[in-house]
Amino acid sequence: MKEPLILGIESSCDETAAAVIRGRSLLSDEIISSAAVQAKYGGVVPEIASRAHTDAVDEVVSRAINAAGVGLSDLDAVAVTYGAGLLGALLVGLSFAKGLAYSCGIPLIGVDHIRGHLAAAYLEDPALKPPFVTLLASGGHTAILYTKTETEFEVLGGTRDDAAGEAFDKVARVLSLPYPGGPHVEALAREGTPSIPMPKMLKGVGGYDFSYSGLKTHIINYVHTMSARGASYRPADLACSFQHAALDILVEKTVEAAQEKGVTVVTAGGGVVANGYLREALGAACQKAGLALVLPAKRHCTDNAAMIAAEGLIQYRAGNFSPLTLNAEASIPLRRSGSDPAP
Ligand code: KG4
Ligand code: ZN
Repeated sequence: MKEPLILGIESSCDETAAAVIRGRSLLSDEIISSAAVQAKYGGVVPEIASRAHTDAVDEVVSRAINAAGVGLSDLDAVAVTYGAGLLGALLVGLSFAKGLAYSCGIPLIGVDHIRGHLAAAYLEDPALKPPFVTLLASGGHTAILYTKTETEFEVLGGTRDDAAGEAFDKVARVLSLPYPGGPHVEALAREGTPSIPMPKMLKGVGGYDFSYSGLKTHIINYVHTMSARGASYRPADLACSFQHAALDILVEKTVEAAQEKGVTVVTAGGGVVANGYLREALGAACQKAGLALVLPAKRHCTDNAAMIAAEGLIQYRAGNFSPLTLNAEASIPLRRSGSDPAP
């Protein structure tokens, strides 16, 4: 039997994206980003994002269909991000997907964006099977999860305040680096050494929980104190020290969780997993612990539609389809996401 052909559409933030998969094989993967426009404002302006999605959505879907070498009538389902994200932005992709599903007479599958990040690993390794432990590190969430089956996961722990990506973005602002902060902090960190002491408190938080607010405040205070004293410091060393402190804890706790759960496989997802230092450190720690690591390609860590199609496939196989009344949701709690099927 032929594997299902699924179109994924993503428009939750500043990337308008579409991708086509046949089973777990990626046939096309297109993105039109408004990040360069948003960079002028130092962050995503929701109204600008919505208008950019409106301009781009038809184009990006056409490109994905053409690049996949298929026709609209070949599709078995349309999977689309319905949350979490910017409401106006989500509504553009969601409304487009509804129209397409209706006119093609195929099911609509509403996808939780975070489940999409978790599903990205399945594209990297089509043979990947639960159980495994996943490190999720995006702009809105940072958590360690235990995936029991393709549709069920348990949250083992997470940040008590800021997400890792949020911390990178805030530190980037303090260092006067452009939006989006993560890749710029990483690039600067490559020029430095982890020579500036960082607070140890991150390690003090119990279980698989962690906290980023102390680290972020430490960086802000450091920069202000140094400038008030007229003292100089190397921003590259500060970026590097921050990066080590922010990411080492994630690596450590992910490996600990995998060992405690007795799994042999670790996966990861979310924008921060595009970070080269994190990828190397997690690779080294997993190797040392005898764990197999499945890391999505960098372009499938940051927002993309391939991961939405991948999660769409899981929901398709589980028979979880969405009504055409499906609405966008600005936030979907992580714990709810683990136990509920897509609406
Ligand atoms: O997953 P994502 O693209 O969007 C959300 O769902 O939030 O994650 C975006 C976050 C941003 O905070 C961005 O600064 C961070 O991921 N990020 C990075 C890197 N690339 C993106 N953080 C550290 N290093 C990177 N190379
Ligand atoms: Zn994301």
